Amino acid sequence: MRPISGFSKMTKEEKIQWLSMQVPVESAPLIESMNNFWHQDQSVQKKFDEFSENTLTNYYLPFGVAPNFLINEKLYAIPMVIEESSVVAAASLSAKFWQTRGGFKAVVHSMTKIGQVHFLWQGQTAKLENFFSTKKQELIDSVKSITHNMEKRGGGIEDIELVVMTDKIENYYQLKLKCKTQDAMGANFINSILEGMSDVWKKMIATSEIFEASERDLDIVMCILSNYTPDCVVEAWVECPIEDLGMVAGLVSDKFAHKFATAVNIAKVDPSRAVTHNKGIMNGVDAVVLATGNDFRAVEACAHAYASRDGQYRSLSDVSLVDGKFKFSIKIPLAMGTVGGLTTLHPLVKTSLAILENPSAEELMKITACMGLAQNFGAVKSLVTTGIQKGHMKLHLLNILTGLGASVEQVEEAKKYFTDKIVSYTAVRNFLQSKELPQ
Ligand code: MEV
Repeated sequence: MRPISGFSKMTKEEKIQWLSMQVPVESAPLIESMNNFWHQDQSVQKKFDEFSENTLTNYYLPFGVAPNFLINEKLYAIPMVIEESSVVAAASLSAKFWQTRGGFKAVVHSMTKIGQVHFLWQGQTAKLENFFSTKKQELIDSVKSITHNMEKRGGGIEDIELVVMTDKIENYYQLKLKCKTQDAMGANFINSILEGMSDVWKKMIATSEIFEASERDLDIVMCILSNYTPDCVVEAWVECPIEDLGMVAGLVSDKFAHKFATAVNIAKVDPSRAVTHNKGIMNGVDAVVLATGNDFRAVEACAHAYASRDGQYRSLSDVSLVDGKFKFSIKIPLAMGTVGGLTTLHPLVKTSLAILENPSAEELMKITACMGLAQNFGAVKSLVTTGIQKGHMKLHLLNILTGLGASVEQVEEAKKYFTDKIVSYTAVRNFLQSKELPQ
């Protein structure tokens, strides 16, 4: 690879051509064929190009839907964007299972989001605390031009606190903002407030008579929202009498419930298992977050921090078997939005929201948490009964057959043959060869 300047100014075609000349000659066709993935409608393609920088092409992921989700008595088909096979199937199976057992229930406990002005200041902490308490309302009022519209929608600033952090880093303080952003994810809103407020705060200190000259210089380190939103939490659950679970993959209900509970409890005490357990939850959560144009990096980072909130990484889901009832629940922070950002730009995000009948952010949080719980139920159910590979292998077999160019008839024959056999690339190829079928 050679260094290049002015790359961002090149056209898309020029960028592709330049890149194709940087790779070994046998790889060049792969780069050149990137234009095969452009959208045929140039106005749509332009939108995709403009989401990011130095865009060359589109990267496709499957967009599926998991029907039969009964959530708070309302039925949903939930859009999912995910490349991992079995995830949509597992979610759909769980949804169907719980649809006849009361469905999912969900509540949002709070939708408070956080932002921080990090600053350094030298002086007496008590003096700063007193000054802050007299100026707090003025600080809030100073950003009215930003918060005005959000207030009309029922959101805005809930509170600001002065946080003393001088025991951790010398002279380090924060202004901690708590706010509600209603249906917006709210990143721009929060960051604008923080930057506006930090300027005002700095000026207040610089011009106040109560401070000595040496105390008037406040150094703003940075202003940024926090993606840790432990107060923007949704709780979802399913429950039914243990006997109503029926026979689950060959296990009687009582045995299944106890085995399932043990598996969840293992994920509550062992971080090695908890990470995989929560990964299963995030299979469902991320798929909805992506389909609805939300920020999956923020949701992931926050969920895992939340899973460690008592000092040890633990399962996000919980189970109880009390008074003959099986209850499986999840508590997860989900800072999601249904307006602004990608929701207005990406045509398929609009489609996802339409499939969900244009939910509020609060409703979307509930739907997403239920999807995470459904996914987790499906995974743990498989793990404690048939094992995870059975379902995976069915799809794996199909992928191998497709890769080997098998016909519809060959696929049907192979499906029957491999019902009770281990699927591997070699075994499938040998099977096709033994049948003298082309590969
Ligand atoms: C695979 O993507 C997810 C699982 O590993 C989750 C789990 O182990 O609970 C099946």
